[in-house]
Formats: sequence, C-alpha cells, structure tokens
Amino acid sequence: MSHDSYLACVFGNPIEQSKSPTIHSMFAEQFNISLEYQKRFAEADGFKQSADEFFSNPQVIGANITMPFKDDALQYANTLSSQAQRAGAVNTLIRKENGFIGDNTDGYGLVTDLMNNSINLNDSTVLLIGAGGAAKGVVPALVDAKVKRIDIYNRSANKAVDLCEYTNKYSSNTTQVYDARYVNTYDLIINATSLSLQHNLPDISDDIFITMPAVYDMVYLNKPTAFLAHAKSLGCNKCIDGLGMLVNQAARSFELWFHKTPDTAPVLEYLRAQLK
Ligand code: ATR
Repeated sequence: MSHDSYLACVFGNPIEQSKSPTIHSMFAEQFNISLEYQKRFAEADGFKQSADEFFSNPQVIGANITMPFKDDALQYANTLSSQAQRAGAVNTLIRKENGFIGDNTDGYGLVTDLMNNSINLNDSTVLLIGAGGAAKGVVPALVDAKVKRIDIYNRSANKAVDLCEYTNKYSSNTTQVYDARYVNTYDLIINATSLSLQHNLPDISDDIFITMPAVYDMVYLNKPTAFLAHAKSLGCNKCIDGLGMLVNQAARSFELWFHKTPDTAPVLEYLRAQLK
C-alpha cells in the first residue's frame, strides 16, 4: 500500500452479513480515496486483542463496531464524543495522534434518514419500541433533534424504565422521556426491537397507529417488515425501513475519518436494488 492508502474495518460477531465494506468502498470511490475496508470477526471475549492487532497497522484510520462489541469499544476508546458517552456505546473509532476517539453515529444515521424522508422531529411525540442496544444508541440524537416527548415501550418494562431514567439524567428539559405505560398519540413510532427479523410484531395495541404516525423499523429486509406492513394495513403511509439509517451512520463515520461528506443517495439506491 502506498502512503495515502487507508485501511478500516468493521468488527462484529457474526460479521459475514455486513454491508459496511460495500458502503464505504462506494463512499471512497466518490473522492478517489484508496480505502480497503475489511470485515473482522472477533471472539466474544476477544475485542481488545483483535482491535490491538488491527490498529498495529499504521495505515488504519479507524473502525466501525457492531454487535456485540459496542460496549467493548466504549472501553477501548481514550476519549468519547458526547453522543457516545450519552448513548453508552461506540460504533466508530477514530485514530488520532495519541489514541482513539469513540463516537456513536447510529443516532445521526436514524435522524438523518428521518429528515431525508421529510419527517419533522421538532416538537414531535415519539414512541420508541425496544430498550436494548439499538434503542439506547439513538435516544441522544432524538433528544438533540428537539422532539417534545419520547415514550419507550419494552417487553421487559424494567429496561424501559432504566433507559428513561438514564436519559433523563442528561436530557434537556425540553424533551421528556417516559416509559410507555399508557398509550399516547404519536407523530412517529420507531421499532428498535429485533422482532422483524423473526417476522413478528411487538405486543402493543393497534391504538398507537390511530393518528397515522410515520413509522420506522430499524430492521430492513427484501420486502416491507412485518411491522411496516402492519402499520400500512392500518392506514399509515409513511413507513420506512432501516436501510437508510445504515447508510447514513456509515456516512457520518466516513466523515469523521476523512472530513469529507459522501453522497448517500446512490449508495442507498444500489443497496436497495441489491436487496430485491
Ligand atoms: P439490540 O442491541 O439489537 O437492541 P438487544 O439488546 O438484545 O439487541 O435488544 C433487543 C430488543 O428487542 C429488546 O428491546 C428486546 O426486548 P427485551 O428487553 O424484553 O428482551 C426486544 N425483543 C427481542 N425479542 C422480543 C420478543 N420476542 N418480544 C418482544 N420484544 C423482543
């Protein structure tokens, strides 16, 4: 590799399914950047070792981190961005002269995709279904987008309560975060559970769809997810899956590494066509 060739990767377990190499290669092409982007499998308890080994190569500019290593990456980073600190998870490591910055671009990816789909978050009321890593990662960005209220619903209610309490410790007092014990009316519903991967629906009343909210599912498949299809059958017509979130979180990582803003539209279009 010549001096201005770069190396990056995504760490995960499993990792075979990752589309990040395709996305980042397409971004790099837009700027004639020579970037090799690898998939790296790490053992469940082997993140640090894998990361140390990868980063020993001076051409490495940074890395993405997916399940189940976002907590390990938080520990690995020397400093944290506000998003990473508040999300309690790192999906992007950026190499600096004296260590690594840990950032989290998942929330940026979600909020940007919502905006690209003309969904106005300012002063809106949001229902977030799920309280696992995927939900936790996006709450700070939703708060920063100045939503009025976030209700969090989860099968294990205690996890929703914990996430609300954790968020309210740092959130501005213009956004209130509650555990969704009562059904409210919503402008936007986000499914941050893994249920769509099993073609299942969250156990929550259809009343949530009464106001025809915009509906977002962080999962994407080669067809509308069960959740989006269900919302559509109840009359919601703004139903969006998580492919755009994936591309936009990658775009923000790329920007953090190279200080260049890639055009996401052709990449999203390409991935959508590939899925079909
Ligand atoms: P992730 O990091 O992708 O969010 P996770 O931490 O395992 O993964 O969380 C998965 C989310 O999907 C959780 O909110 C989980 O609910 P619990 O906290 O009650 O486990 C939710 N989920 C997964 N399977 C579910 C099911 N069969 N019914 C309801 N919720 C489910």
